[in-house]
Amino acid sequence: MPGSLAVINCSQLVTMAGGKRPRTGGDLRQLAIIEDGGLLIRGDRIEIADRRREVERQITDDCEVIDAGRRIVAPGFVDAHTHPVFAGVRANEFEQRASGATYREIAARGGGIRSTVRATRNSSLPDLVKSSKRYTEWFLRCGTTTVEAKSGYGLTIEDELKILRAIRQLNDETPLNYVPTFLGAHDIPSEYRSRRQTYVSLIINEMLPRVAEEKLAEYCDVFCEADVFTRDETWEILSAARCHGLGLRLHADQLTLSGGANLAAELSAATADHLEHTDSAGINALNAAKVQPVLLPGSVYALGSSKYPAAREMIEAGLAVVLATDFNPGSSPTPSMTMILSLACTQMKMTPAEALTAATINAAHSLGRGDEIGSLEKGKRADFVIHDASDYRELAYFFGIEHPHSVYSRGQLAFSRRVSEAQP
Ligand code: NIG
Ligand code: FE
Repeated sequence: MPGSLAVINCSQLVTMAGGKRPRTGGDLRQLAIIEDGGLLIRGDRIEIADRRREVERQITDDCEVIDAGRRIVAPGFVDAHTHPVFAGVRANEFEQRASGATYREIAARGGGIRSTVRATRNSSLPDLVKSSKRYTEWFLRCGTTTVEAKSGYGLTIEDELKILRAIRQLNDETPLNYVPTFLGAHDIPSEYRSRRQTYVSLIINEMLPRVAEEKLAEYCDVFCEADVFTRDETWEILSAARCHGLGLRLHADQLTLSGGANLAAELSAATADHLEHTDSAGINALNAAKVQPVLLPGSVYALGSSKYPAAREMIEAGLAVVLATDFNPGSSPTPSMTMILSLACTQMKMTPAEALTAATINAAHSLGRGDEIGSLEKGKRADFVIHDASDYRELAYFFGIEHPHSVYSRGQLAFSRRVSEAQP
């Protein structure tokens, strides 16, 4: 059992404290910052998040005291959409896109997701865990303490289970917290191209029952897209998933307006993700059904597109916006939530405060963990980051660098690095 820990001398303690609900409208800008703040942690829980002197009053002899050196302290990022378990990389496709090929053209000729599926099927569970630990470390060093983690590069029962077991093992063996999502409907595998209904039936009748029985996932996701799973197929799969007690998430309207947002609303999904092509009718439907949009500007950027989702319209409509990396080897090879904050501010005109809310407390709510993580409040899990910055806006403003000075998960140091002696 870890002991007690006090963190003092924080230029800003960015608590994100507020009502027990996802933030919308003007509340997205309320960060509940405590100037010259501090934290007291016992075990894996936050006991006090307050002014420095209130914390200092409670420091006991057994307490380790960390001086944050006038840096900011913020909740660990909650990355609510990632594909972090796969074998191989696709730098070759990156080069092809730089030479003019599109993501869909590459996929149509057998590359894309199917190329990562081939490599992942050929990788054993231990090898997959080993290669994925590299990315675990990347997330932590970027200040992320929880990731939603999708399967989807196996597309056979055994290979999908293998990926979900790898996610369970990573959760157990590393300080990063994983929330598992079953994405057997990430693509139609090559061997089922001429009989797609058979693959949909395999997902519904064989994969979902196994995943549910072994409690390997909390959510089910489907890539609903013109060339991938149709609206009807998506409906069938997600309805079955709900019967197994899984929460629902969807890749919706990423490459075309395929009705994914409306479907997410119809199904009362937890989230609709991507939404680059969603129109006003889709936004209104999401709002009426209280579905949280998960925006993934990293994939827009990395695919060389300029079609970012309509974040401002979504915020104005009253949606509880979430930001995530979509970390994956194809469309979004970045684990960096601060890169996402930068894109959100420069390309989607979110303010730094709105972006930070979307990347922490709103993301936590989208994963059913709004009471556990995403803010620094008494009773919550001690997942926090000391960033080498004196003002939270610097997280989005300085880009292309890693801001964390040290990262704590469950009250334990998970990552630290040497930073300049000069105080920010
Ligand atoms: O969210 N769109 C589908 N899935 C991923 C891409 C996966 C890949 O290219 O390997 C995404 O962008
Ligand atoms: Fe994705």
